[in-house]
Amino acid sequence: MARINMKKNTQPLSLTKTSAKCFLSLFANPSLITLIKKNGKYSVEEIIPHQFPDEETSVTIHSDVKNKDVIVLTSLERPNAKILALLFLAEIARNLGAKNIILIVPYLVYMRQDKEFKSGQGVSAKYFAQLLSKYFDALITVDPHLHRYHSLGEIYSIPTKVLHAINPIANWIKSHVKKPLIIGPDKESQQWAQAIAQLVDAPLVMLQKIRKGDRLVEMMLPDLDRYSSYTPVLIDDIISTGKTMLEAVKQLKQQKMQPAVCIAVHAVFAEDAYASLLGANIAQVVTCNTIQHASNAIDVSELIADNIIGD
Ligand code: R5P
Repeated sequence: MARINMKKNTQPLSLTKTSAKCFLSLFANPSLITLIKKNGKYSVEEIIPHQFPDEETSVTIHSDVKNKDVIVLTSLERPNAKILALLFLAEIARNLGAKNIILIVPYLVYMRQDKEFKSGQGVSAKYFAQLLSKYFDALITVDPHLHRYHSLGEIYSIPTKVLHAINPIANWIKSHVKKPLIIGPDKESQQWAQAIAQLVDAPLVMLQKIRKGDRLVEMMLPDLDRYSSYTPVLIDDIISTGKTMLEAVKQLKQQKMQPAVCIAVHAVFAEDAYASLLGANIAQVVTCNTIQHASNAIDVSELIADNIIGD
């Protein structure tokens, strides 16, 4: 299991300290763009790729990027439709004379296939890391799904910086949830759940999950009787199909626990996951805004902006 360093990330990426900077956004979350603009030091060129009738893509950079550190802000959930435009953007910036090209991708995709689950499948986390490492000089992200890999350095050959949403999540819990019981729905979630339980000074319970398929999980819960007066707060890094949260919520109900608050860093919400979760026995679904979504209630754009702008 990867361990979270609970010290605050206060150091801006050193690469960007001295050089002139140029910000380009492609599919980026508006809250991050707004924050960088609000800082007043930088403008952000918002790039909208042109799509030809045959669905090929073209990207144009108008900013002067020559000899500058180019900071590319992007959002890559549902990545396949976005990735080519992003790589073209990096290539064009390089051809225009950019000094360094730094990718800010709050939700780092393709991290979950971190082993060959079935023979013949390959390891897409590694291939994707190799691809981004060819086009960018550095990468900043928030809470990547580190499970079998313990750090991004194992698969990325460029400098990477990982920011953590645990402090903003813990602060949200402190001000919104009475008597929380922090619950990690599976082994991977322990890194977040444990750190947050410590920060909010609440008890922690870890569940056991067996994934049987993309949309099928089984879960084992301990006896929670002694926590019946607590508010269960499920913490995970990603909600995708929502099956992990739904199974945990179902079993909490069977144990007559109070409705749970479901918190995730990344609001992926595949298909009808969000609606299904809202229809279940829950108190609230809350996410960070690494991906723009109706459930966003915890702002991490400041954390990201601090790390790329500095003081
Ligand atoms: C898995 O290891 C992750 O930490 C999440 O538990 C998982 O990605 C959630 O997926 P889903 O919402 O599809 O159950």
